Amino acid sequence: MAKQLLEPVKIGDLQLRNRIALAPMTRTRAEADGAPTDLMAEYYAQRAAAGLVIAEATGVDISAIAWMGMPGAYRDDHLVGWQKVTDAVHAKGGTIFLQIWHPGRATHSVLINGQQPVAPSAIRLENSETHTPEGKKPYEVPRALNLDEIPSIVAMFKQGAELAKAAGFDGVEIHSANGYLLDQFLQSKTNHRTDAYGGSVENRLRLLDEVVQTVTDVFPTNRVGVRLSPNGVFDDMGSPDYREQFTYTAQQLNRYGLAYLHVMDGLAFGFHELGDPMTLAEFRAVFDGPLMGNCGYTPETAEQAIADGHADLIAFGRPFISNPDLVERIAGDIPLSPEADPSTWYSSSTAEGYTDFATAT
Ligand SMILES: Cc1cc2nc3c(=O)[nH]c(=O)nc-3n(C[C@H](O)[C@H](O)[C@H](O)COP(=O)(O)O)c2cc1C
Repeated sequence: MAKQLLEPVKIGDLQLRNRIALAPMTRTRAEADGAPTDLMAEYYAQRAAAGLVIAEATGVDISAIAWMGMPGAYRDDHLVGWQKVTDAVHAKGGTIFLQIWHPGRATHSVLINGQQPVAPSAIRLENSETHTPEGKKPYEVPRALNLDEIPSIVAMFKQGAELAKAAGFDGVEIHSANGYLLDQFLQSKTNHRTDAYGGSVENRLRLLDEVVQTVTDVFPTNRVGVRLSPNGVFDDMGSPDYREQFTYTAQQLNRYGLAYLHVMDGLAFGFHELGDPMTLAEFRAVFDGPLMGNCGYTPETAEQAIADGHADLIAFGRPFISNPDLVERIAGDIPLSPEADPSTWYSSSTAEGYTDFATAT
């Protein structure tokens, strides 16, 4: 039977050749100073048959780095490296967005030149450790950003978007999920501010809203996506008023005419269990533009979500690591290779577990 997942879809002015996206995934194969490598160009080109390739979380400033080997979007050599990636994907007829990102409290001073990590409030990420060049360390108590520092955060995202545009990306995805800085501002668990950026759902949305505004000065609004994780527990997240916050956020994002809203609705990355998970159908009811689902989808459940009208696209993460030809496999009903060994997910600079997966045909 013809699969709706394989049908073309229009997001903004872009015609995508199918409804399958490569989910953004940090793979720590960049140079130590954040420059994307030829190996990364090969990896993304291998997966260019996706309707949309979303390149991994990319730091928008030298203070926005959380792992060794993650790429940046703030220096000339980053621009040169990313140009090779976008050229390689475009040469295969693909479409590629860059995920622009700031970790907020989810980094360590060892990784950011000894500076104390920043966040909406001085609340530490508990129950997990971070990898640093000095080994695993607990997260530190972050410093609450001063009101007068917030414009510089917005400016960092603008700088990231400008670099992405210069490097040939077709658009950008603003990372406001998984407990990183913009999610920390959205959620009451991590945002205890009493100024214009905290308290009400409106105030907690303010930073993301300002970032969307500035990024849409760089790219047309329909070339900008936003990622949210309303159900996630990753990075010690989960707030009792999640449904109110994320419903309001989706409603307000309608003002822009974005390329898409990317919702991590599935529970495959853990669920905060504070109430019923938010579903794509709930987001569909309040968000007018293209909707992308993610987390734990199989080709079958993804097809169902599209057929039910709950989503326009589905992003695949782990299945795309070990199946570079995921699109062809779905088209041919070819069984998927088993999940890649997680010990290779973040192994710096090696092709093993990165570009060495066999294709089925
Ligand atoms: C190795 C790895 C790295 C990831 N890095 C990112 C990232 O950079 N940005 C992001 O938003 N999500 C990241 N994620 C989450 C994925 O985008 C996706 O949400 C998750 O893998 C669930 O989808 P899946 O079940 O299809 O794998 C990462 C996941 C994995 C496995």
